[in-house]
Amino acid sequence: MSGFAVAIAHPNIALSKYWGKRAGAGNVPAVPSLSVTLAGLATTTSVTFDPRLTADALEINGVEVSGEPLRRAIGLVDRVRDAAGTRTFARIVSRNDFPTASGLASSASGFAALALATVRAAGLDWPADRVADLARRSSASAARSVFGGFVELEGEAARAVAPKTALDLRVLVCVTTEEEKKVSSTDGMGVTSRESPYYAAWLEEAPRIHHALREALLAGDFERVGALAEKSALAMHASAMAAGIVYVTGATLAALAEVRAMRDAGISAWATIDAGPHLKCLVRASEAAAAKARLSGVPGVLRIIEAAPGDGARVIEGEGRA
Ligand code: PMV
Repeated sequence: MSGFAVAIAHPNIALSKYWGKRAGAGNVPAVPSLSVTLAGLATTTSVTFDPRLTADALEINGVEVSGEPLRRAIGLVDRVRDAAGTRTFARIVSRNDFPTASGLASSASGFAALALATVRAAGLDWPADRVADLARRSSASAARSVFGGFVELEGEAARAVAPKTALDLRVLVCVTTEEEKKVSSTDGMGVTSRESPYYAAWLEEAPRIHHALREALLAGDFERVGALAEKSALAMHASAMAAGIVYVTGATLAALAEVRAMRDAGISAWATIDAGPHLKCLVRASEAAAAKARLSGVPGVLRIIEAAPGDGARVIEGEGRA
């Protein structure tokens, strides 16, 4: 078999968080989540199945990669090879147009772009939900980046729940360090599920927050979406902290205090925080400039990346031949 395809995908930010996995195989989240796919930041990945190759190869941002990242990519490509009935090796070339330590999960856009490019290069014509299922097995949040706008991941299935125009939202990513995080999300959730006295409470509370947030989104209620997103993030971090997993730093908390001071001053700004120290501020487009100016004055905030809701993963070049 030979085949070539290039796909592009964007990172996403969870408004209601997933934290923890179901027992058993398949990398299935323990709780439902709802995210927004972001425009303006992208991973572009090409996959070439070439009968002359003697092994799979992976290049990320111009550097040949081995070890764990290569093993994870091969895991995905192997599933596609099994489905296509081929043993041909692949060369993968991937590039992020945003820094890895930007506080935006490159694994989400990375595995969404890899899943779509691999499927297409193998000559398979899978619908988006099957591509998302493939991406989820490598990184659960990657399933959400297959779709654009507002996206839900519930159990094994990801689906678009509202178009990118559903909320007049801007996400301000407050970058607080150039270093990569020390505890991966998979390790952090593992420790939380085994050791946190609050993990059971999180498993009960997270679906409630998720369903309320989904309803608020469909009603176009910006304030309620923001309030529930902040609640979800704080509940997730509380469960992790009780197990000794602390992602926030002084700069994260200073930014959180500023977001709350903005609300006191009449700006509808809300905070969310993932498995790292970078706070993400959720704000209306019309108030984004004011919020950005205030957050850039917070000690420890190095720079701010502004993103709007964006599109799902798509093939931009190539076609596979089985
Ligand atoms: O997709 P993973 O396994 O890297 O985990 C992502 C976890 C959070 O970003 C903290 C929450 C989420 O729902 O994206």
